[in-house]
Amino acid sequence: MCGIVGYVGTRDAIPVLVEGLHRLEYRGYDSAGVAVVRRGKVVVTKAAGRVQELRDRLTKPTPSTIGIAHTRWATHGEPSDRNAHPHLDAEGRIAVVHNGIIENAKQLRARLGAAGVELVSETDTEAIAHLIAAELAAGAGSLEDAVRAALRQVEGTYGLVVLDRTRPDELVVARNGSPIVLGIGEGEMFVASDVAALVHHTQRVVFLDDGELATVRAGEYRTSTLEARRTSKEPTTVDMVADDYELGGHPDFMRKEMAEQPEAVERALRGRLDERFATAHLGGLGLDAMALRAVRRVKFLGCGSAYYAGQLGANLVEELARIPADAEPASEFRYRNPVVDPDTLYVAISQSGETLDTLAAVQELRRKGGRVIGAVNVVGSAVARECGSGVFLHAGPEVSVASTKAMTNMTVSFAMLALLLGRVRDLSAASGQRIVAGLRALPARIEEVLGDDAAIREVAKRHAGAKHMFFLGRVRGWPVAREGAQKLKEISYVHAEAYQSAELKHGPLALIDADMPSVVVVPDDELLSKNLGTIEQIKARGGPVIAVTNADLPEGLADDVIRVSRGEPELDPIVLTVALQLLAYHLAVELGRDVDKPRNLAKSVTVE
Ligand code: AGP
Repeated sequence: MCGIVGYVGTRDAIPVLVEGLHRLEYRGYDSAGVAVVRRGKVVVTKAAGRVQELRDRLTKPTPSTIGIAHTRWATHGEPSDRNAHPHLDAEGRIAVVHNGIIENAKQLRARLGAAGVELVSETDTEAIAHLIAAELAAGAGSLEDAVRAALRQVEGTYGLVVLDRTRPDELVVARNGSPIVLGIGEGEMFVASDVAALVHHTQRVVFLDDGELATVRAGEYRTSTLEARRTSKEPTTVDMVADDYELGGHPDFMRKEMAEQPEAVERALRGRLDERFATAHLGGLGLDAMALRAVRRVKFLGCGSAYYAGQLGANLVEELARIPADAEPASEFRYRNPVVDPDTLYVAISQSGETLDTLAAVQELRRKGGRVIGAVNVVGSAVARECGSGVFLHAGPEVSVASTKAMTNMTVSFAMLALLLGRVRDLSAASGQRIVAGLRALPARIEEVLGDDAAIREVAKRHAGAKHMFFLGRVRGWPVAREGAQKLKEISYVHAEAYQSAELKHGPLALIDADMPSVVVVPDDELLSKNLGTIEQIKARGGPVIAVTNADLPEGLADDVIRVSRGEPELDPIVLTVALQLLAYHLAVELGRDVDKPRNLAKSVTVE
């Protein structure tokens, strides 16, 4: 959730580090800090708030060719200068930046306190700096040995980088549950928690594995395990380029990523649709026709929007393959000692592939012998690696905290999975053909919704004064409504509640009045008349209605209508969801929110 950058080379480190932090700011943004070695001293600068605050404080040039930096999302201790990373040992010799959570921090802090160490922050990270210093004082042969010995006392997750003022030519990095990637330059090396901070400089990278450490110098790196066994890691070339992380003329990343959806969907479909056999090819699943036929149930697991994408996926599987399917928040699944069924195909969904709750659900499944595949956007991420097989989303890097193109590609991927499961069962070739054609039509249909931007903005403007909003849908429209409410909440801070339309009359209808607009999702399907009935019920109580639909509604029924095109009914929810992204976006912009960095949130949630 936080961002890490490290540099060792020949350039002035601070500009490189701060530039890297800017690129990682989407991962966490409540405080930031940087440490460099200058004339044998560790010089630290920190600031609560955004990276810009840190930049404003870095007024004095502090030339140095080595340094570490961090942007934080608070877990232990409020966002403040004191709690911002890097953290130092008592002598100011060792500086540490850390992502993840040290679970035995309380015990470590107590132990250090009892030994007379004064801890100056409330963080779990500071203890690591003191432990490393203690190991060096006790005679550890190298910084790497000291880090290794310190980490043996630590329980929890970490991606960390360590700087020692007496060794101004090397950084030691370690990974356990929080990503660390090395970037290989010409006579210089970079370290980061995310390739976003590196691709500006290099595309040659080395991903550390859990339980691995590395000593990084300007011209070399050496990797080993926590048990001091050497490992050999060949660099790989990532295909992300710097432009993927630039706004490219868009006002913010959410807007850019919404606009990229037609192209992202094209990518997800490329090479995977088969007109001849009216099916999909998802080679990464590693399941042949026999294995697919043996699947008796499908369960989607994810968090937030990924969970809602799973709900859309479950509907598609039930509709097209006629096998029972459902979705559950991975965060619940992991904690309820789930009954794992050997005939169920579990699908772990995660854009980042780093969400701890989703990763833990996968680990629980694997421990119990469940068959789990991933639906992941970030190649090489923890969920992707833990699953070992699945569907890559091919949405391209997603920077905005609000997931748009990745969420869309999740649903598109599940439509293909449903088609495939259907075609090894009783879905007819004609129906398969209809879905293949429907999938092919999606990019153009999404483009059309995006083209309706100005009209959706006007609707948003008319409702920007609302303090609360309902999002209603039934069956196909229900996950759409949930995702619409989620998007609105997270980026506009307007209270939005999603309800199944028919449930309204069982209680929440009492809340309807002129100040409570309802967004009603009305797909043009067999439930149309029911949805029209829901609108009537709301109107009869004086509630304003925004209908998001591809049906022909009676004139004047809804106060505002956001219209999308008609396609295959099973796939229409995907298009309706895009319309709700735009509605949430414009409402948030109208309210002056920072859409890319909503308060209290971070892009990947690597904590419980
Ligand atoms: C989406 O807009 C949210 N920011 C959030 O719900 C997100 O989908 C969730 O945290 C899961 O993230 P993941 O897909 O990276 O696992």
